[in-house]
Amino acid sequence: MKRFARIIGTGSYLPSKIVTNLDLEKTLDTTDEWITARTGIKERRIVTDESTCDLALEASKNALEMAEISPSKIDLIILATTTPDKIFPATATMLQDRLGASCPAFDLQAVCAGFVFALSTAQQYIENGSFKNILVVGSETMSKIVDWNDRSTAILFADGAGAVLISSDNATGIKHSKLYSDGSFLSSLHVNNNGINDLGTIEMLGNEVFKIAVNRLSDLAEETLKDCNMTSDEITWMVPHQANIRIIKAVAKRINLPMSKVIQTLDTHGNTSAASIPLALDVGVRDGRIKKGDMLLFEGIGGGFSWGSVLVEY
Ligand SMILES: CC(C)(COP(=O)(O)OP(=O)(O)OC[C@H]1O[C@@H](n2cnc3c(N)ncnc32)[C@H](O)[C@@H]1OP(=O)(O)O)[C@@H](O)C(=O)NCCC(=O)NCCS
Repeated sequence: MKRFARIIGTGSYLPSKIVTNLDLEKTLDTTDEWITARTGIKERRIVTDESTCDLALEASKNALEMAEISPSKIDLIILATTTPDKIFPATATMLQDRLGASCPAFDLQAVCAGFVFALSTAQQYIENGSFKNILVVGSETMSKIVDWNDRSTAILFADGAGAVLISSDNATGIKHSKLYSDGSFLSSLHVNNNGINDLGTIEMLGNEVFKIAVNRLSDLAEETLKDCNMTSDEITWMVPHQANIRIIKAVAKRINLPMSKVIQTLDTHGNTSAASIPLALDVGVRDGRIKKGDMLLFEGIGGGFSWGSVLVEY
């Protein structure tokens, strides 16, 4: 009998410090009007002294509580992050220790596509019968690699974490996933570090990234529907990576999906990279919009570039 990877718990966590567009006006040559109109972001959360693991821990506890699964029952932890706390060990192993779990744990790096890459990886382990319960986390402290003097990136990125507990199920779960990478776009969006002793900061050709994101994500949404022999009418909610409201609207328009079927958290979360999809998912689940049986489309694209989609019957 086919095994499906089903989401049985979601959780998220945001640091308490809120940085509004008006706060950024004080230090950057920008305005609330410009940021709101060009990106859809009004405010974002930024850590003071919390680590990527601290955020991941709180989000994971929330997901485990909803799933009613104790840490001892987790078979694998996959943590998607662009901002690990150390070069080694993996932030996932620190999370494993602090949760009190005793399973294998590893980090996965696909920048803002990290969550869909991690979810697709978890899907393979569940479907081939290797593991029953997998904790998939996206956690980021992007503020640590932002150049706070660069108005084109400082307004976008933010901190936070989201987590899902995936469990083996005979009836329903992840229907499909599709992943892509094209490393020839390194200079469009990357961190300009010089070797491993230098953290560096984000450098981005915003306009180019914008166009590529719209094209790649629109094509991918169409392909995903075609692969599954579905139309967009059958999608209950699109839960996209939260990078720019204009990107999200353009992709929704291409597949004829009304914005009323899109979970949008960009206005208050900003771009939290690998954390943005599970954060938005948790918001939609906890406020009652996302219900059991809903068909969810996750999509994300990240620097350099990597992009992917996951279609889930929730
Ligand atoms: C960054 C982004 C918001 C810029 O919006 P845009 O409409 O493309 O704007 P442009 O880059 O063409 O710049 C237009 C003008 O606004 C200026 N500008 C850039 N950032 C600004 C800011 N924060 N405030 C005010 N003006 C700004 C530019 O300097 C430029 O000025 P000029 O015309 O005098 O040269 C947009 O390109 C974007 O969101 N790109 C995708 C980024 C992304 O999603 N990255 C993560 C992917 S995971």
